[in-house]
Order: sequence, then C-alpha cells, then structure tokens
Amino acid sequence: MKPEPRWITDWGLTPPDLKQWVLLIWFCGVLGGCASIELPDSAEQSSIEFNCAVGDVTPHEAIVWLKTTEAQTLNIQYTTDPLWSAFQETVRVSTIPETDFTAHIPLTDLTPKTRYWYRNLVAGEGHGRPCQFITAPLEDDVTTVTFVIGGDTRHSFQPFSIMETMRTVSPDFFVFLGDTIYADKETPARDLSDYWNKYRENRDRFAERLFAETSVYAVWDDHEVDSDFTSTNPLIPIGRQAFFTYWPIRQHTPDSTRLYRTFRWGKAVELFLLDTRQYRNPENNTMLGEAQKQWLLAQLVASSARFKMIISSVPFSDPRVDKWGEYPEERDEILGFLTKKGITGVLFFAGDVHLGAVSRMPGMTDRKEYIFGPLAATMNYKISRGEPRFEYFNNASPNFGKITVHPDGLKPSVHIEWFDANKTLLHQVILEDHRDNSLISQ
Ligand SMILES: [Fe+2]
Repeated sequence: MKPEPRWITDWGLTPPDLKQWVLLIWFCGVLGGCASIELPDSAEQSSIEFNCAVGDVTPHEAIVWLKTTEAQTLNIQYTTDPLWSAFQETVRVSTIPETDFTAHIPLTDLTPKTRYWYRNLVAGEGHGRPCQFITAPLEDDVTTVTFVIGGDTRHSFQPFSIMETMRTVSPDFFVFLGDTIYADKETPARDLSDYWNKYRENRDRFAERLFAETSVYAVWDDHEVDSDFTSTNPLIPIGRQAFFTYWPIRQHTPDSTRLYRTFRWGKAVELFLLDTRQYRNPENNTMLGEAQKQWLLAQLVASSARFKMIISSVPFSDPRVDKWGEYPEERDEILGFLTKKGITGVLFFAGDVHLGAVSRMPGMTDRKEYIFGPLAATMNYKISRGEPRFEYFNNASPNFGKITVHPDGLKPSVHIEWFDANKTLLHQVILEDHRDNSLISQ
C-alpha cells in the first residue's frame, strides 16, 4: 500500500536532538549541500539493528530501508528542512521475521533535485538519527551530477574504510556494481538465513555511514548467489530473495524478480542497470535473455539523456568465459546496434574483475569501457596488463570511481576518476561531447 504522507509541525527537540543539529548546522549550512554529518558508531536505539539506507531514487520517489532487531511497528519521518521545524511522515509498517525484520518504505511526492533528511520513528521509542539523500533532477534540468561507483565487498576484507573515502566526496548517489556479499566464500550460504547473515555481517560502520549520507543503486553479480552462476542454478530464488530483502530496491510490477531498470538524472545522465546473471544461458548464447536485451535496445533508442551509462557487472571488453567474451554474438549485436542507430553518448561501466581499467571494446578502438573495483577484496593477478585492450590498468590497489557529469556549456563532459582508499587520484579520463556525436578521450 502506498503510504500517504502527512505534515507535522513540531519542534519537539530533545537535548540529544539539539546537540545533533548544532553539529548538522555547523557542517551543512542551512539548505546547502551537506558534506558530512558526525554520526555515532552505533545506533542509539535498541530496537534498530541497522539504521536507514535509501535507494532507487527518482525525482519524486525513494525507497527507505532499515532493519529492526525484532518485530516492531515504525514509520519514516522526512523533511527538506534540516532544522526539522516541519516534516512529513509515512504510514506505519511492521517488521516481521519472514523478511528478517527489514522494512522497505517508499517516500512519495518528493520534490526533484532536493536534499531530504529522514529518520525512523519506532512505536513507543524516540526517533532514530537522521540520514539524508538528494532526489534526482527532472529530465530537462541542466545540472552537474556526481556519483561514486564500485563493487566487490568481501567480509574478510573489513573494515570497508574505502567507503568512508567515498562518503567524503559527497556523491549524489552510489552505484554498487555487485558482489555486495560473497555468499560462496568462507562459510558458503545454503539457506535463506545463511544469505541474510552474509548481508548482516557486511554492514560495517563505514558502510552504514556511507548509506546514511547518500542513496544507492544496487545491482548484483555472481557472489550474491554462487560463483559464476547462470540461470539454472538452484540457489537463485533464495539468493535473489535475500538481495531484495537487504537492498533498498523498488520491486518491479508485475515481475517482482526483475532487477534490470533505468534511472534518469537530469539532462546529463541516464543509468541502465543490467542484470547479467539470472537470465544468462550459455546454451542459448545469451547473457541478458531476450526480454532484457530488447528492453535495453528500446530504452537506449528512447533516451534523450546526453550521456547513457550502461552498468554491467561483468565487462563487455573482457574476452574470457563468464564475461561478455562468452557471449560474443549478443555483445556485438548491442555494440553494433549503437553504431547502426547512431546512438550517441553511450558509456560502459563495469566491475567484477577486481582491477581498475580503461579497456577497449573488441575490434572497436574508439569505444572503451571503464572498470572499477574491488572496493574490498583480493586484487586480480590473473590478467596481464600487457593485453593490448588496456589503456589503463591497475591491479595494485582497491579503488572506486568518481564520475562527474557536466551537461551544460559548449562542451558537455564526463570526468572519470579512479581513487584508492587514501583518496589518492590513480587515474583520470575526461570525455567531451563536441555535439558532433563523438566522445573524445583526453
Ligand atoms: Fe567480486
């Protein structure tokens, strides 16, 4: 049921609130972009196991996620006013054991390109500490968009301190490229509670702090289910169920198992989040499955975004098995379609292979792919930096991408930067759209 927001006018600040908001105002300034909130390391509320995260943000909607320790009734309060002089709240929802006491609570009727603060209110308790995010701008909005991107967070590589570095660049959102857990590693997950546990153990304090200050678009790769899984793997239903349970994802209607989706961020950006796993079938030579492939091609044709960003967990440019190299016909069909239809401003972003890279597409030296990660996992020593496809290659340090998109001016541009956990700039590429249908790498 769609929660109906209602307005509340109420100062009602307790001393802890006041302390928190003095800090907030100090860091943010009224209605300005907020660089950082000082958060305690653990939730003050005994009923909350994980405080809020938010995802699948659009200009008018967002999905808030949280987890309680046991069955609770709660709602979400939210506002555009950092002083909380007035706010709205959703209807109450209940957390239940069947979803491991998690909740997905939609916020609706939001204002585009606006910073929101939100917090939980558990029945019978005080409210939780506030989190924040920005709504997407409308399609015709000429605004700069900045986001961070990366994948691969393995529990044994905690703490996920690189997420703290990602937080400090104040991104509009985070694109999580998959391998958000490693279900098949250490103690392999075999039943639903095993999978849930993998997600719980991966929410370290750095992940919590990042998710408290920006929104996330999460896609999965193989390790959310099983290593290199394909569409016939019997663990898919419970791995998928756990993925939906633990990430703030809007379930598609009528197909609640669908993970591929698009998000628009103003004039500049459209994200095309692919599901490279649950439909892949080597016998039928398909990575995406027919329905998703046709959806992708149609969406690309229809998009008016200046930059169309295809988010594929596994790289298009990688010639190996399990990557797009195992599905060359489908890969070449998609790449050829872009050329044939004259679709401009298409960028490819990928993870999975545990190295940062700029990699040329097969046979197409002017089309490249930008690869990020791992955030926190072993580096890849199996691929040679000497492969001619690599223009940039880093298998020495965990890394994330910072993408800054400038849609305005005579030369709209995309600035792609690779940073390590110490915020050292490892590499950068500037792509300029000269409006002659080309993207030029500098
Ligand atoms: Fe991985």
